[in-house]
Amino acid sequence: MNSLAYTPKVAENTAHLYERVKDVIPSVEWPSHAPWVHAINELKRERNAVILAHNYQTPEIFHCVADIVGDSLALARQAENTDAEVIVMAGVHFMAETTKILCPEKTVLMPDMLAGCSLAESITAEDVRGMRKKYPGVPVVTYVNTSAAVKAESDICCTSGNAVAVVNSLGVDRVIFIPDEYLGFYVAGQTDVEIITWAGHCEVHERFTADELESYRSQYDEIDIIAHPECPPDVLAAADFVGSTAQMIRYVGENNPARVFMVTECSMSDNVAAQYPETEFIRPCNFCPHMKRISLEGIYNALTSISPTVEVDAEISKRARGAVERMLRVSEKQAYAAPQPELQSAVV
Ligand code: 13P
Ligand code: SF4
Repeated sequence: MNSLAYTPKVAENTAHLYERVKDVIPSVEWPSHAPWVHAINELKRERNAVILAHNYQTPEIFHCVADIVGDSLALARQAENTDAEVIVMAGVHFMAETTKILCPEKTVLMPDMLAGCSLAESITAEDVRGMRKKYPGVPVVTYVNTSAAVKAESDICCTSGNAVAVVNSLGVDRVIFIPDEYLGFYVAGQTDVEIITWAGHCEVHERFTADELESYRSQYDEIDIIAHPECPPDVLAAADFVGSTAQMIRYVGENNPARVFMVTECSMSDNVAAQYPETEFIRPCNFCPHMKRISLEGIYNALTSISPTVEVDAEISKRARGAVERMLRVSEKQAYAAPQPELQSAVV
């Protein structure tokens, strides 16, 4: 393993960044992060690069090197708006592919190509063609947690933040909704449109149980339980609020709960706790092993070598882009924009 030194200069230049994460990263750990943080922020300037980080990235990535953070929808939107030549995706592979589809002229770096997703793995382009044969004429709505090849077979994409709006926008009685079965069930409960689902699941969210939620509710007098719609239906029924990762963050910001249990990936609570220290975060959580493949060292290596790059076949990219852009047009009409913590000043 490479290592960089925690010099007085590094300590001084990163002190303001440590302020942001001091409630969630112990001071003894900071010297192991700070040299990478400092080097990455310098490299970003040299390479004309930005880092997009999903809400599940660890706090030293999310708060100290990222330029743009958010849920899948926000990252897709923001990718298009950057002037940088190089985009590093601190997230999983399907997010990097979506970025490349929307910004084909830019260099998109993926610090670890093995950062996948159980939902993206659950369905192939051939499977989508099979669904179309089985349900002729029924439009295909595809969650962005899929490969570019699957998106290319779809009529429109959606994220957890706009799935209901996307389905309603089509003005039809039935849709094929792939591949997240639980998100499909959730959408079915919010619309009159008939939802034909696929049996894909998120390996992180499917592990939560309603009993777990109830046991926390009985332990605490005052607790807000907020859940991601990739959770099973009985878990969502036991929650006070259901939303995308960005919508969950917005819930905390708007409601200032005394205590909150975020039914989602572990780093979310750390990142939000750093922003809202007055709220107590109860932290039973499940790790996403794919998101956790991304590290400061991996980001540093990617920016140093400008590799590995994410490439998408031109023909697939063109078709997939149509589905993603149709989604972005629907969600432009939604009033909600993902909140951004103070990040751009991360460049030291
Ligand atoms: P969001 O779009 O809500 O951030 O979800 C992405 C994801 O992978 C959740 O597991
Ligand atoms: Fe995929 Fe679940 Fe990980 Fe999100 S949390 S990237 S849906 S495996």
